[in-house]
Amino acid sequence: RATAPPEHLLTLADYSVDDISSLVLSAIKFKLQFKTFGPSYIRQSLSNRTVALMFSKRSTRTRVASETSVSALGGHAMFLGSQDIQLGVNESLRDTATVVGSMTDGIMARVGGHDEVETLAKYSPVPIVNALSDLYHPTQILADLVTMVETYIPEPLVIPEAIQPTGRSWVPIKQWLDDTVNVQQLLQGKKIAWVGDTNNMTNEFLVTFPRFGMEVAVAAPKGYDAVDPRVWARVTEAGTESLITFTNTPAEAIANADIIVTDTWISMGQEEESKARLEAFTGYQLTNELIEGSGAKPDWKFMHCLPRHQDEVNDEVFYGDRSLVFPEAENRKWTIMAVFDALMGRWSRT
Ligand code: CP
Ligand code: NVA
Repeated sequence: RATAPPEHLLTLADYSVDDISSLVLSAIKFKLQFKTFGPSYIRQSLSNRTVALMFSKRSTRTRVASETSVSALGGHAMFLGSQDIQLGVNESLRDTATVVGSMTDGIMARVGGHDEVETLAKYSPVPIVNALSDLYHPTQILADLVTMVETYIPEPLVIPEAIQPTGRSWVPIKQWLDDTVNVQQLLQGKKIAWVGDTNNMTNEFLVTFPRFGMEVAVAAPKGYDAVDPRVWARVTEAGTESLITFTNTPAEAIANADIIVTDTWISMGQEEESKARLEAFTGYQLTNELIEGSGAKPDWKFMHCLPRHQDEVNDEVFYGDRSLVFPEAENRKWTIMAVFDALMGRWSRT
């Protein structure tokens, strides 16, 4: 294990396309390894290590994915909800980061403002992973990338017999994946339509997918279509503006799209705006009629990070055979495992 300053994951904007691809392939490696050979073939990189999960908001997928990932890597996950610790309440984030970081090997944090996760990263002696802030959701977009690779790979990935382990030897599956799968090539030229609120999910899309050569078309109603200047600065830094379009008409974004995506119209913390938001998003509910009537690609797919409500997408699309939502949710586990392994399992302060 190398001794180095901790590396954090606050947004994928901080990671190169190669680094993101490597995390995606590492996630696929864990998934194949686990499903083909069983849990005992997972390298125990978090053995004798503890990861603190500091969540100040609700979570199903991120929490379950994080706890099960830490177990699979041989470590201990410690869940600390907002009622359990002083996350920004009665104690500064700086003091919390210093103290929790002095006793653990990594922190996964779900926060309100993005500045909270930045403060944790500034003062923590151990890696900080953003489990959702008001600005970004990096681990979700890694899961979306894995789901897209699985969808667009011409043949399903099966570990070749030649590199299968005999007995309990470690197999070079990651090397085989690096040689076989080019994430950027698989995604290049695909059009992804975001129909709904411009929120933390949209932001993480904007700073990530265009760098893989994907076109991102955002449809949001007036008043809900602004992109935070901090996010747009990362887009211009990447020079990907020409791959991004905005409209107030869902059909325009959906035209020619390979993947149609939405999210709740009322993110956590916006509950008081519910009435105004439900009104503003009238006409934005995704239905087969809207998607097919707008000229999506014949083999269009649907994605959603969940949790989902009927408002933004009806049952026909959500439970239909174009929907990737449940594999996408399961992929949260394999991608979080890849992140924890890379950030917390390969670094030591001693
Ligand atoms: N997609 C996602 O982050 O779900 P949870 O809020 O349930 O973790
Ligand atoms: N935009 C949603 C994502 C939940 C995973 C929220 O912030 O509540």
